[in-house]
Amino acid sequence: MPSGTPLVRDGVRERMVEIRREIHRRPELAWSESDTAKRVCERLEELGIPWRSAGGTGVVADLSGPRGVPAVALRADMDALPIEERTGLDFASENEGVMHACGHDGHTAMLLGAAELLAGESLPAPVRLLFQPAEEVGMGAVALIEAGALDGVGAVFGGHIDTGLPVGVVAATEGVVNASADGFRIELTGREGHAARPHQAIDAIVAASHVVVALQSIVSREIDPARPAVVTVGRFEAGRAQNVIAGRAVLEGTIRAHDADVRAALHDAVARVALATAAAHSAVATFELLVGGTPAIRNEGLALALAREAAARVVGTENVTEMAKANLGGEDFACYMKHVPGCFVRYGAAHPDGDERPAHSNRFDFDERALAVGAAWLAEVARCAGRALRDATGG
Ligand code: NI
Repeated sequence: MPSGTPLVRDGVRERMVEIRREIHRRPELAWSESDTAKRVCERLEELGIPWRSAGGTGVVADLSGPRGVPAVALRADMDALPIEERTGLDFASENEGVMHACGHDGHTAMLLGAAELLAGESLPAPVRLLFQPAEEVGMGAVALIEAGALDGVGAVFGGHIDTGLPVGVVAATEGVVNASADGFRIELTGREGHAARPHQAIDAIVAASHVVVALQSIVSREIDPARPAVVTVGRFEAGRAQNVIAGRAVLEGTIRAHDADVRAALHDAVARVALATAAAHSAVATFELLVGGTPAIRNEGLALALAREAAARVVGTENVTEMAKANLGGEDFACYMKHVPGCFVRYGAAHPDGDERPAHSNRFDFDERALAVGAAWLAEVARCAGRALRDATGG
């Protein structure tokens, strides 16, 4: 942690920890974040900040600024994951099979902390707070955008807790920081039959197994090795009994890439390989991309410079870093950046237990000192970007 002046005022940190733990205790899946949203609205009301419901279970709130200046949008995601928590924390999930295993409880608390820091300030530009639902299914950002959440917005900023980075560090990385993420579904149809008479059947399990293996040659043989890409099959469903040849199999997976042309090439290749491999085994395959696909996030230009400036003010230049390696994780924050310039950072939040508590695992946890870093950065980037937007509009 950087020493010296505290990142946030007395009390703000304690209130963030309290709200984070409350939300952590009652995690809600995508599109079901109604209690979380209610808690957010209660807090906004205490702070005197007007809000409205948007995009299903989302909440949009506004801090006013000078007329005619575009707003700076700050975004937090609110949804949890279908994971049974095994952290042993005394504020562990009380909702069976649901857990905040990606730190979105922390992001929500950070944005409320930033709201408290900014409330009552004379701001250079209006600030729009986006409490977004359904990030984990890649659909919440689009829902908020369709509800008008970016109307009048000139720039958008957000960040993610990163337990791979030390607390006190903000990574504002130039270039691609999150990959495009597209879910796909392949359905194979063969012919069901007696396990002892394979010549009378078309075995969908054997055909689908060949498809899984064939798909793994796409990245290694068709994509430039210098350009990051992943094809993962995460789900394989087939069969009804040990003595019945399966007539149907379903594969689901995800396609990740940093570049739009690689993304498009992978879509075509996965479909081609799946259909042709199935046909080689006399089965018929269909390929579909699932809804909720998101593009990559590329940080660049003025928005990146403003994010770095704000980070330097909060944690000191020496604690503003870049991610060391390409990240193939998806993040629907990318959808906002299709409409307005923005930047997506990572807040160092390494847990003292280190690698034993990775994101999307039932042991996930982060160092709560990161909450103050996130809140202070969000507030500061609203000020920095607000000044830039005001100056650009001649205000
Ligand atoms: Ni996340």
